Amino acid sequence: RKDVGILAMDIYFPPSCVQQEALEAHDGASKGKYTIGLGQDCMAFCSEVEDVISMSLTVVNSLLKKYKIDPKLIGRLEVGSETVIDKSKSIKTWLMQIFEESDNTDIEGVDSSNACYGGTAALLNCVNWVESNSWDGRYGLVVCTDSAVYAEGPARPTGGAAAIAMLIGPNAPISFESKYRASHMAHVYDFYKPDLASEYPVVDGKLSQTCYLMALDSCYRQFCNKYEKIAGKQFSISDAEYFVFHSPYNKLVQKSFARLYYNDFMRNCSYVDDDAKEKLQSFSNLTGEESYQSRDLEKASQQVAKHLYGIKVQPTTLLPKQIGNMYTASLYAALASVLYNKHDSLNGQRIVMFSYGSGLTSTMFSLRLNNGQHPFSLSNIGSVLGVTEKLQSRHETLPEKFVETLKLMEHRYGAKDFETSSDTSLLQPGTFYLTKVDSMYRRFYSQK
Ligand code: ACO
Repeated sequence: RKDVGILAMDIYFPPSCVQQEALEAHDGASKGKYTIGLGQDCMAFCSEVEDVISMSLTVVNSLLKKYKIDPKLIGRLEVGSETVIDKSKSIKTWLMQIFEESDNTDIEGVDSSNACYGGTAALLNCVNWVESNSWDGRYGLVVCTDSAVYAEGPARPTGGAAAIAMLIGPNAPISFESKYRASHMAHVYDFYKPDLASEYPVVDGKLSQTCYLMALDSCYRQFCNKYEKIAGKQFSISDAEYFVFHSPYNKLVQKSFARLYYNDFMRNCSYVDDDAKEKLQSFSNLTGEESYQSRDLEKASQQVAKHLYGIKVQPTTLLPKQIGNMYTASLYAALASVLYNKHDSLNGQRIVMFSYGSGLTSTMFSLRLNNGQHPFSLSNIGSVLGVTEKLQSRHETLPEKFVETLKLMEHRYGAKDFETSSDTSLLQPGTFYLTKVDSMYRRFYSQK
């Protein structure tokens, strides 16, 4: 099987959003803290009629329709999510409604969860399946769906919501360089959800930032080692056109790319010029631990990496800056951004991806791009994603209304026996929405 990877892709995000500038003022944060400090523009959120199940139904339905895929042709369906609606029944089983209609119940796969990493686990499972002896010739389908909400406080502006669907198979325009994959997995309490009565995580913000960067370093080191063994030459950031990072908020992505640059400097990579060497020289004797705490290193490496950041990372940041952290969907929304922005110049190029899920699990992997053939072509993927139209048709909500919605959802989480307001005026035709939860906690959805 050649070029196994992503054949097609679609994204759905809720039409409700709140501007970070307005939220900043509302929260009494200093001006620029969310927009410049965190680097975020806007944040999407689910109203009371939407949740991770309705978003995943919407995006799967939309992908099958727009690429004209017969539901019978799906042989594996995997969902990544960390938004718990049911501790036993997988989101995948709700999605089966779409396939049962076409008499296709022969579909492997369930949900994967570990913070923001579940989508990557699901994706690797599907790719491995197509590459394996168990493959039956049909497509894999991966769904990443999450609603990221935080309790009042400094983490609240780093929420977001979206669902992404990706069709997996051979001869893909976005194929896996499966030999170039490196993981770092460990036990830490940086972000977790131990309170089953609440949708909100418990989060140690500072620790989560350091864990993310340590995982990035470790994955990058392993990734470079593997590359060098197989390709017989050193890997550096000049060997990939784009770097796509899991994006809790944009500032961390800026710091991450700078961190890769610092790694390359320490490894003596040839593209690092004299000027950059001079600026970073005084940090070359820091221990690993010291290097994570050094604000001066952070600043200096961001400064020397700034030009390359503009070329290799900036085109991947559109959706994460506009929507916020989408947890499992975040990395793939960043990939969607570069596919959308650059689809006509990606042929032959390489994209390196970094997936991080607190707790912690992380993987760096490599994708190779080719133009592909309709409907599985980069240009068609770009037009199906329709990012500009989707962003423009959103409805800006005042921070007060956003806070009110989150309050309501605190009561609704884990509740039974209620009907939603059925105000679907903001939803586009074809969108699925929640109508009621009955006395047995059974959930009911309709399609607009
Ligand atoms: N203008 C410009 N910048 C400002 C301003 C201002 N007025 N005020 C603050 N800043 C800067 C700060 O200097 C800082 O930037 P720096 O790190 O480059 O110095 C940034 O804004 C954030 O300010 P902090 O005081 O560090 O923010 P705080 O501690 O209040 O919260 C945090 C930030 C920890 C990210 C919080 O939002 C959080 O806990 N989020 C959830 C956890 C998270 O997303 N972790 C990431 C990995 S795990 C995951 O994906 C869930």
